[in-house]
Amino acid sequence: MCGIIGYVGPRVARDVVVAGLKRMEYRGYDSAGVAVVSDGRIEVRKKAGKIANLEAALAQSPLPDSEIGIGHTRWATHGGPTDANAHPHVSQNGRVALIHNGIIENFAGLRAELEAEGVGFRSDTDTEVAAQLLGREVGRGLDLAEAMGAVCQRLEGAFTLVALDAEQPHRLVAARRNSPLVVGVGEGENFVASDVAAFIEFTRSAIELGQDEMVDVTPERITVTDFWGRPAASKPYEVTWDLSAAEKGGYDWFMRKEIFEQPTAVFETLLGRYTADGALKLDELHIPEAHLRGIDKIIIVACGSAYYAGLVAKYAIEHWTRIACEVEIASEFRYRDPIITGSTLVVTISQSGETADTLMAIRHARDQKARIVAICNTNGSTIPRESDAVIYTHAGPEIGVASTKGFETQVAACYLLGLYLAQVRGTMFGDEIARVMQELAETPKLIQRVLDNLSPLEDLAGRLVGRDSFLFLGRHVGYPVALEGALKLKEIAYLHAEGFPAGELKHGPIALVDSGVPVFVIVPPQGRDQLHDKVVSNIQEVRARGAFTVVLAEEGDDEVAPFADVLLRLPQVSTILQPLLAIVPLQYFACEVATRLGYDVDQPRNLAKSVTVE
Ligand code: M6R
Repeated sequence: MCGIIGYVGPRVARDVVVAGLKRMEYRGYDSAGVAVVSDGRIEVRKKAGKIANLEAALAQSPLPDSEIGIGHTRWATHGGPTDANAHPHVSQNGRVALIHNGIIENFAGLRAELEAEGVGFRSDTDTEVAAQLLGREVGRGLDLAEAMGAVCQRLEGAFTLVALDAEQPHRLVAARRNSPLVVGVGEGENFVASDVAAFIEFTRSAIELGQDEMVDVTPERITVTDFWGRPAASKPYEVTWDLSAAEKGGYDWFMRKEIFEQPTAVFETLLGRYTADGALKLDELHIPEAHLRGIDKIIIVACGSAYYAGLVAKYAIEHWTRIACEVEIASEFRYRDPIITGSTLVVTISQSGETADTLMAIRHARDQKARIVAICNTNGSTIPRESDAVIYTHAGPEIGVASTKGFETQVAACYLLGLYLAQVRGTMFGDEIARVMQELAETPKLIQRVLDNLSPLEDLAGRLVGRDSFLFLGRHVGYPVALEGALKLKEIAYLHAEGFPAGELKHGPIALVDSGVPVFVIVPPQGRDQLHDKVVSNIQEVRARGAFTVVLAEEGDDEVAPFADVLLRLPQVSTILQPLLAIVPLQYFACEVATRLGYDVDQPRNLAKSVTVE
């Protein structure tokens, strides 16, 4: 939700900033802008729309070369996506330019205060309030960092701010509360950004800032303090992926690339987390085993695809551990007074580690004394920092807004957690755990087999591209897969798509089925799952009403063929692990349909990759 970058160093700042913005465009694409300092003046170019519009503006009216710059790509909250509302915002006295990610909740009162002092606002944004306040404090003689601290102390809500000062052409100041900020540590140059992808081309050494911290950056120095100027501990870490991971590598879309990266992503997520004899080894789970044995309830909290991964996890965790497991949409959770005690384990799932709804939910759970385990893909991000333990998924950067390998690795990590809890609590025998673990370890190869056989989906997308409504059915773990398959189609192809538990259909939704309506059905394994025959009956029910059935069934399932208009085969695997395979064709289908419709698959309308506002 908004991408921000700042640079100080000997390179041409404008170019570094624009390149960084392009790598963060997935965070928001309503407008983009850059500010630099040249000859003691701040110069800004900003434009509504995608970064391409900003580049065109820069080509028409170039910014001077300079050794300091800040840039912003916006997902609009306060104020429409116009040139005037684009960041950076410059204070009325011309001293500072500022960019912001988040929402300043008390902006109205602050704006009134500034207007009473004669400040004229040029935008409808909450952000301009911070720019004007900062300009006022610096104009009164406060040092830039002191001024930033003083401003942050007055702001409420979520914000990452980065500012430069016309009179200090080699110094940036940045601050954060509830929104991400990472410092890129270079040699004779330094960076600040929302995401390491912005500067990965130049350095893989990074520092993550904590809550209510700020950083004062020159080419040679990085000073981290809190808003009150007290020194704060900061620990640099090495980013484990490189520039190629943040590029498309010959694919038309990041989403397609990320779909094809799933075997590796799952492999990496499982790697090192089990022994040769199939016992689980989660060294990073720093919660004493005695405490895990005393847990009487698990609540999984997440949003979007991560929530659907949590729904899959519920089936696995309850089956393996016999602990009651609830799954909650994070934005609902904290507002409904959930029952949480010291023996509740809250598991939070988040690819970005920055989702505001999820973050607020875990803060609420912590207040109630629950232990928190995060499943997260982003090293050092806020959610793992505020959790008791973290299981990192090792998917590498996910840049397509629609989650694919993120979801897949979240499911894999949930399986690891479920098996680990079963091991600690003795609810499964060691050889049972080893059997599941061996099967899980085989899934990267099976996912690859699914990927090798996706071409029928291309024909299918061609046949169905004109349809405007799609249904997805599943039972048991197939139900969350149906929900996730429908979400993919909604978010990138803008089509009506709904996922249902297949058994629920006749309680209402079957009324949606009409001649030719495409219905995708995920069929549980034949012979090894009691629900197989019931799902086959559900297929017949919709077919009898004219549905066009697309059936995902395992290899060798000969019962379903007569009822499938299109039959897609999945390698054989246990029911609980089937989501890792079954979601792949649904992701690919959505990608194909959206491509055929001419949409921007990686940057769907109205969405942003990480939702850092509530
Ligand atoms: O970063 P997170 O996993 O916390 O994000 C949660 C959702 O916003 C995310 O999964 C979203 O639903 C995706 N666009 C789904 O493709």
